[in-house]
Amino acid sequence: MSNSPEADDSVLEIRGQHPLSGHIKVSGAKNSALVVMAGTLLCSQACRLRNIPDLVDVERMAAVLTALGVKVTKEADCLDVDPSDISHTRAPYEIVSKLRASFFVIGPLLARMGVARIPLPGGCAIGARPVELHVRGLQAMGADVQIEHGTVHACIPGTRGRLQGAKIYLDYPSVGATETLMMAATLADGETIIDNAAQEPEVADLANFCRAMGARIRGVGTKTLTIVGVPSLHSTEYAIIPDRIEAGTFLIAGAITRSTLTLSPVVPEHLGAVIAKLREAGSDVQIESHNRVRLLPGEEILPTDIQTLPYPGFPTDMQAQFMALMTLSNGNSLITETVFENRLRHVAEFNRMGANIRVNGNCAVVQGSSILSGAPVMATDLRASAALVLAGLGAHGTTVMSGLHHLDRGYERLERKLTQAGARITRIDGQSSTSPSDVTHSTVQPSH
Ligand code: EPZ
Repeated sequence: MSNSPEADDSVLEIRGQHPLSGHIKVSGAKNSALVVMAGTLLCSQACRLRNIPDLVDVERMAAVLTALGVKVTKEADCLDVDPSDISHTRAPYEIVSKLRASFFVIGPLLARMGVARIPLPGGCAIGARPVELHVRGLQAMGADVQIEHGTVHACIPGTRGRLQGAKIYLDYPSVGATETLMMAATLADGETIIDNAAQEPEVADLANFCRAMGARIRGVGTKTLTIVGVPSLHSTEYAIIPDRIEAGTFLIAGAITRSTLTLSPVVPEHLGAVIAKLREAGSDVQIESHNRVRLLPGEEILPTDIQTLPYPGFPTDMQAQFMALMTLSNGNSLITETVFENRLRHVAEFNRMGANIRVNGNCAVVQGSSILSGAPVMATDLRASAALVLAGLGAHGTTVMSGLHHLDRGYERLERKLTQAGARITRIDGQSSTSPSDVTHSTVQPSH
């Protein structure tokens, strides 16, 4: 059972400078699980999903599906979803406000039921997160979409009952918009072309899931997707891909503690940019087999510039973790965040640990040093929380991290996996280990 999202007053106590060793198992990809769960709405029969991680966000997506009348049961990493009887077409605000990804149900719900009413997900810690690319694409497919009182009302007007295929160009290769429109197109009349589509592996995973249900999709993994609508989709059993961001996080845990680690399962080509940058930073990453990699740390951590970009560029979800590594490099690194407009909030927390990072717009200049010192820190978003754990592993002394509700949304038992590999991390319920004045509180940000 994942840790309760309400466990907001728990903290992680991380004792730094302990080497790691051995093998870490990588869980199923959060950003595949969430959108594939939404994709089951396209099907009028029960589906079985495998390799589903035990995360708060997965529980929240299951709650959204349940609110729509879908039967959802989870047994270990296996999720049985029976969407044969969708009784509601409005997603509840109290759940959507906690899980941005629940907005992904709009495409499949509209395509399957002809109507969908989804609260606007709103902004979050890393940015405004607009959804106009989703909305404009659905309108191009013939949907009538109005936004009233913070809710997106979408319906298929008249007696057509089905969306119409369309040629859509995305101004930005948005992962979510690509996924929304691809799902909607699987049941539309005619052919839909999505140009400038996102190429993230999780988009390809969703496409492969839809194809397993009988969807007709070409160009999977490229920037042009062609979908020919079919009357209906059928039951399937599908295992999602391993989480490339969790794997990248563990690779950096090895590099920052100068430890040799092996990870599996992984898909090495999903980690192309991360592996290239870790090699540039002095680590050796060996691809041991089609689903296993080994990290060998370098003598030193070398300063390395990164710029986050849509896949196959360096992933924005790895930016904070890589910055943690650069704080211990022997030079200066330039880190440029081009995907989200406010995803450098972890800089202040790293500087509390003795890092020397200056921010100018969407760029951070990291002046590496030999020492980070443990301190009380606050997680500001999902990936920043993982990055602070990594910094704590590399720091001298003890780091106490609060804001664990961010961490538990996206990582399956992170501290347990790292502890099994030799880290000294303890989850402490409440704040008995630090006086409240040490740890600043922040309002719980809606997750993204
Ligand atoms: C997905 O978010 C992921 N979430 C994010 O992971 C990830 O960081 C992001 O893709 C980029 O890879 C899930 O898959 C659940 P986008 P998404 O639409 O789909 C702008 C994590 O930590 N944009 O590709 O919301 C947007 O503001 C999370 O696991 C528009 O302007 O990302 C952003 O600047 C964080 N209009 C950029 O595009 C739109 O209509 C990329 O957003 C849609 C997006």
